[in-house]
Amino acid sequence: MTPEPSSHTAPDVRPRVGIVGAGQLARMGWQAAISLDLELLCLGAPGEAATGAGAPLLEGSGRDPAALTELADRCDVLTFEHELVDLDALARLEARGALVRPSAAVLALAVDKLHQRRTLAAMDGISVPAFAPVATLAELEAFAREHGWPVVLKARSGGYDGRGVWMCADAGAADAAMREGHDAGLELYVEQAIDLVAELAVLVARSPSGEVEVYPPVETFQVDGMCRCVVMPGRIPEPVTRQAVALAHKLAEQLGLEGLMAIELFLAAGERLLVNELALRTHNTGHLHTEASGTSQFEQHLRAVLDLPLGITTPLAKAAAMVNVVGPPDGSDPASRLQEALRVPGARVHLYGKSARAGRKLGHVTVCAETPEQALSLAREAADRLERHD
Ligand SMILES: Nc1ncnc2c1ncn2[C@@H]1O[C@H](COP(=O)(O)OP(=O)(O)O)[C@@H](O)[C@H]1O
Ligand SMILES: [Mg+2]
Repeated sequence: MTPEPSSHTAPDVRPRVGIVGAGQLARMGWQAAISLDLELLCLGAPGEAATGAGAPLLEGSGRDPAALTELADRCDVLTFEHELVDLDALARLEARGALVRPSAAVLALAVDKLHQRRTLAAMDGISVPAFAPVATLAELEAFAREHGWPVVLKARSGGYDGRGVWMCADAGAADAAMREGHDAGLELYVEQAIDLVAELAVLVARSPSGEVEVYPPVETFQVDGMCRCVVMPGRIPEPVTRQAVALAHKLAEQLGLEGLMAIELFLAAGERLLVNELALRTHNTGHLHTEASGTSQFEQHLRAVLDLPLGITTPLAKAAAMVNVVGPPDGSDPASRLQEALRVPGARVHLYGKSARAGRKLGHVTVCAETPEQALSLAREAADRLERHD
């Protein structure tokens, strides 16, 4: 028997969670909120994925202090599905007693990736790729002379799905990437390109009363910087799994995390684990837990920010895989091919209700199976049918 936690501080009745953002992550958060009969209010624009599924909407932007204030006034706790926020406004709301989870200071790590690198690099026992802020090509070349080509140029803020990340093989490529970044008004930093054995991700939840749950690490596969599939268990040696879980505990505790955090990891030769980036919210690499683990990441997120008891993260299946459904080049809508996808045995299809556009993430498929290979092959088959690949 697990002892009853005594120090939880959730509001008494039907608390309302304010989510900054109304995209697919908020939409799946809304699904979880329905099960627990929690109220949700999403800050975003009409027509976004969560609103289409009936989630209540407060129209506005996370960058607008007035909208954040209204969200805080109407909700018991504020949390996030993206990082495009006014951190100063959030800090002011915190100062007058609003519950902002994660806190503005912790969310700042996701808003500015250079600040995140510096913070992680200063922590004991955490490795990150070598990095440096760069404003000129000369500075970038100096970094490359020290660390070797290729290098990775990154935008400090606003990037996602590989946007704002440029792999530069030489000075010519770096020059072009820097121009593109500067033309877009971005501040940039450069980092050493790691020779990757694999990419992993680990998801951790921590509640304000200090409870921590870590999900089993997964292996992730990126194409052009965008996550395309996730497999559990991945090809991860046992000592690396232990290291990843310990790292998740350590980061959640040292940062004083309140809510959910995804940690993207690089596995390099010699079982060396480096932190790539932190997301202070639900994450694409955690979608498979909805079917494959004891508690979905969306429910766990709500439990954590409301200081409710956290759910178990034990795998429920021997293996699972998730494949994203991305808008095909012809612009057609994968939803029109749902029938074919559902014929794939075990395919659990999630469509986000977003308008179809080539290259846009429109959904995902998860399959649980006896082996990772089986799960991946079936999930891929269903996703391919939705994307109409033969
Ligand atoms: N230093 C690096 N070395 C090798 N590959 C990298 C490096 N940085 C990024 N990448 C590749 O680019 C992907 C996207 O980079 P990331 O910083 O995670 O940006 P995003 O916010 O778009 O996810 C990573 O998942 C990885 O595949
Ligand atoms: Mg990433």
